[in-house]
Amino acid sequence: MEKNKLRRVLALVVILLAAACATQLTVSDTKKEPIARIEMGVGHFNRDGKPFHNWDKDKEIPAVCSRCHGATGVPEYLQTGKNTPAAHVKNGFACTNCHADLLTYERHKVPKVTFASGLSVDSGNNNSNLCMTCHQGRESTASVNKAIAGQPLDAVNPKLPFVHVHYLPAGATMFGTQAKVGYEYTGKKYSGRFEHVDDMNACTNCHDPHRGEVHVEKCGSCHEGVKSLADTKGIRENSKGDWDGNGRVEGVAREIDNLRSELYAAIQQYARTVSGTPIAFTAAEYPYWYADTNGNGKIDKEEFRPDNSYKAYTPRLEQAVYNYSFVLRDPGAAYHNGSYAAQLLYDSLESLAASGKVDAGVKGKVRPAP
Ligand code: HEC
Ligand code: HEC
Ligand code: HEC
Ligand code: HEC
Ligand code: HEC
Repeated sequence: MEKNKLRRVLALVVILLAAACATQLTVSDTKKEPIARIEMGVGHFNRDGKPFHNWDKDKEIPAVCSRCHGATGVPEYLQTGKNTPAAHVKNGFACTNCHADLLTYERHKVPKVTFASGLSVDSGNNNSNLCMTCHQGRESTASVNKAIAGQPLDAVNPKLPFVHVHYLPAGATMFGTQAKVGYEYTGKKYSGRFEHVDDMNACTNCHDPHRGEVHVEKCGSCHEGVKSLADTKGIRENSKGDWDGNGRVEGVAREIDNLRSELYAAIQQYARTVSGTPIAFTAAEYPYWYADTNGNGKIDKEEFRPDNSYKAYTPRLEQAVYNYSFVLRDPGAAYHNGSYAAQLLYDSLESLAASGKVDAGVKGKVRPAP
């Protein structure tokens, strides 16, 4: 973190001021706002970040990773439907990774987006389709079902691997069951795309495309009292019900945070009582879930070893851990599609409780309508 800050201070700051651009006049009459602010070290130019350096000790970035981690993986993917290995990244993404023309700054045409489930969508907005080419996750209901196929729900299988949805899968959350990247339990109905208001429905309506930051100053014009990112946690409009069952109908983000914490506790109890090996999560290193050998509820230094990664998954635990990770890995899940995120958490809690060995269930909670 320290290093990052230092970098920012020393950073090459490229501020592209609009010359005499018609679109700028509509932005503001009183202050001249730059139409693009690109800063080394920030967002898609976070050049020292892990997403750009995971392969430093390897010869190159492998083909299966280079669409989203190479400096120019996107155009190759759009043209050929696949990628070749890419060279190491020095300065984050190249402008040409997203822009087809550096005079007009027009973006590459992205007619549709295909998720790991095999399902495709067209959001109707080219920018959003571009964003979702990377922000879509890498696993799905189908891949979890494949891993657990034919196995009894509560039987430990030491060969069951941790299936990880991958990072920042915002587009998958937004499209919900149209993407099936969350783990959807058989027989349950899930929400499709979250339709926000027209002018605030595309990724770039809410996010700066280069820095990633949220245009939080826009929210308050419709969501009363919202001035900062912290305030967005309180937003609640048309969705109904006390999802987490704590007696209060709260902001979508709060309902989801609470459901997620409850699911974590239920996962830990299930691992103790059914799998027979306690489990805990640590943000420190893949695969994040380790055996909590001393049973104190967290991963201590001596438990944090590659050979101590969790190996006592049952199919039921696999499903729940997958959904917990999905919601965790999309820190904006409440804004991208709160109902879908809550449905995944609710169903995971319900499933763990159905084992008969977990106290927390869904009594008093409300599953959002699909
Ligand atoms: C569909 C797009 C996509 C593909 C394909 C992809 N990733 Fe990623 N990956 C992302 C995104 C988006 C992030 C940014 C998340 C972040 O900042 O944590 C990310 C982040 C990461 C990170 C950083 C995690 C952290 O702790 O911050 C690692 C490591 C990583 N990916 C490894 C891989 C590997 C290895 C492959 C190939 C086997 C791969 N990725 C393929 C989209 C992808
Ligand atoms: C991750 C994809 C991505 C990358 C990488 C990227 N851009 Fe952009 N850029 C966009 C998108 C999407 C928009 C349109 C945003 C909107 O319409 O709200 C945009 C808009 C712009 C605009 C404003 C154009 C206009 O018509 O208003 C400029 C200028 C710009 N980018 C410059 C750059 C430069 C220079 C780089 C490289 C240093 C770069 N961009 C890298 C996605 C990207
Ligand atoms: C080529 C793949 C790719 C594309 C296309 C892409 N992203 Fe990203 N995005 C990433 C990666 C990788 C990161 C993690 C960068 C880092 O280390 O902070 C990221 C980070 C982010 C972040 C978090 C930034 C932060 O600092 O926390 C946001 C928000 C974001 N992207 C939104 C968007 C939006 C909106 C678009 C479309 C305009 C988009 N992304 C297009 C790969 C991509
Ligand atoms: C209604 C506004 C809205 C829309 C539309 C939206 N987002 Fe978000 N997004 C948010 C908010 C709010 C957050 C939470 C930011 C925070 O708390 O730091 C967020 C978080 C994120 C993050 C995680 C940033 C981080 O902290 O690491 C990514 C990545 C992201 N959004 C990408 C996207 C992409 C891609 C799309 C389009 C598919 C999209 N968002 C559409 C509002 C929106
Ligand atoms: C132009 C008005 C407008 C703006 C600006 C706006 N919203 Fe909304 N928002 C709405 C409306 C209307 C709904 C109800 C949509 C529905 O569920 O039918 C809504 C719903 C939501 C919801 C879901 C609430 C629920 O009960 O499920 C979230 C979360 C949200 N907005 C976040 C944001 C964020 C974050 C921003 C700023 C980046 C923002 N909105 C900007 C009008 C707006």
